[in-house]
Formats: sequence, structure tokens, C-alpha cells
Amino acid sequence: MLVTLTEVIDGVKGKECAIPAFNVFGYEDAAAVIAAAEQLGAPVILATNKVAIEHMPIQHLGKLLCSMAESASVPVCVHLDHGKDYETVAEAIMHGYSSVMYDGSQLPLAENIRTTQEIVKMAHACGIPVEAEIGSVGYSDPSMNVKACYTEPEEARTFAEETGVDALAVAVGSVHRMEEQTAEIQFDRLQAIQDLVETPLVIHGSTGITDEDVKRLVTFNVVKVNIGTAIRMAFGHTLREEMNRQPRQFDRITLFQRPMQAVQDAAVKKMKLLGLG
Ligand code: G3H
Ligand code: ZN
Repeated sequence: MLVTLTEVIDGVKGKECAIPAFNVFGYEDAAAVIAAAEQLGAPVILATNKVAIEHMPIQHLGKLLCSMAESASVPVCVHLDHGKDYETVAEAIMHGYSSVMYDGSQLPLAENIRTTQEIVKMAHACGIPVEAEIGSVGYSDPSMNVKACYTEPEEARTFAEETGVDALAVAVGSVHRMEEQTAEIQFDRLQAIQDLVETPLVIHGSTGITDEDVKRLVTFNVVKVNIGTAIRMAFGHTLREEMNRQPRQFDRITLFQRPMQAVQDAAVKKMKLLGLG
């Protein structure tokens, strides 16, 4: 069933678990992620970023993912990831997304607060919850041109109070798109933020976090954990193996079988670390 971010968050409040938001790019990885959630009988978030909506226009992607969510036997939230402007967020809502992230993390604090307030007003009027980011989670790839900066707990409090966002992404040591699990999470900073901020917290760039630290995250007020690279690697590396194993095969439906299973297995593994299933 298609659910909003708030419904997903309410389901994990007070429990030592968090919901993964897996970045998906089309039917195959979305189907594999939903299969993982159904295997564990747990809720899940399908997240689509700029790359995904540049590849498949948002009106098609929204219909596809919402339709898949509606037929799932578990709660599935369809989420816009790192929306960079008002128009993109509004378009996602128009096309059925049940959750949006506005990412003003590269703006000065006052401007991030002002633009987030405008988006919260519009999204809440449509019944859609909003995630925003304070501090900035950087990228392992410098060509992304994203300036990283850790979240200051006091700023997080001001931001949460003034914007009224439903979930708050914070920068506590993770880095987007790491292929190895070598991020160093600052649990003291996370605790200091949580001591001042009531809003449920979100961790981005979670592929780079060790399994042990992912398990530890759920003991904090972290309700959503974003994972992209881990399942892109599962799909891509397995597809390469399949193409090498079957060099004469050209039917993509056949070639996609094992990569889809690899995504499902990788998603199940992450969900178990997050205390689900
Ligand atoms: O917003 C998406 C995520 O933060 C994914 O990060 O690809 O490093 O797991 P990741
Ligand atoms: Zn992210």
C-alpha cells in the first residue's frame, strides 16, 4: 500500500528500528526492493533522485512507483530525494509522491530556512510530509561540487523549530557514494543533536557506514536511513557477471534476473541491520 513518510515514521517511533530509503531508477530495482520488504513484512521507502528523474520523466516515474506501491502487501512510501527547488518538489507532489525532500543544504542558514518554510507550507497544504537537510552531507566524488559541513546541534534546533519539517537529515560523518564502509560516524554529535531536536532524524550516504554503526544508528532518534550505492553496486556488478557468464545472451529480461535477486538480497541484509523483519 502507498503510504506517506509520516505513516512510515509513526510505525517505527519508540522502536529500535529505522526505515531504509533505497534509491531506485526504474522498474527492476523498485520491484526488487519491494520484494525485499515483502520478504520481511516490513515497510520501505522508494527514493528517486535527480539522476532518476532525468532518466525517466517524473510523471512516468511517479505513476510507475505509486502503482507498484499500491499493489505491495507492505507499506511503501514514494519519496523525492534531494529536491533542489520549489518546482521539482511541487511536480513530485502533483505526480503522486507521498513524501518529498527539499535540500537547501548548500544555502546560507537563513535562506535554507526561508525556502524550506515555503516548501513545507505548500507540501503540508497537500498533505505531504517534508524532509530537509541541515549541515551538509558531502560526496566522495568531488565533481558533485557539494560543500560538506557537519550539522551544528544549535542550528539544527533553530532549523527544526522554524521550518516545522517532518524529518531532518543531518551530517554526522557519512559521505554520499562511498563504495567501502569506511565512514566515521560521530555518535556524540548525533546525541547532541537529538538532545536539542525533537524532529525524527535521517542519515544520508549510508552505504559507507559499517554494519556495526548502522545497527547503532537505530538506538538514536534516527527513523530513515538512505542507501543508494550499495544496491546500485549489487545490480551493476551482478549484471556484469551475468553478461560475462552468458556472452551470447542479449535478452535483457533474462540478464536482469540475477541482478534483481542481488538487489533484493542486499536490501534484505540492510533492512535486518536496521532492525526490521
Ligand atoms: O540520498 C541518497 C543517499 O543519501 C544515498 O547515499 O549512495 O551513499 O548510500 P549512498
Ligand atoms: Zn542523500
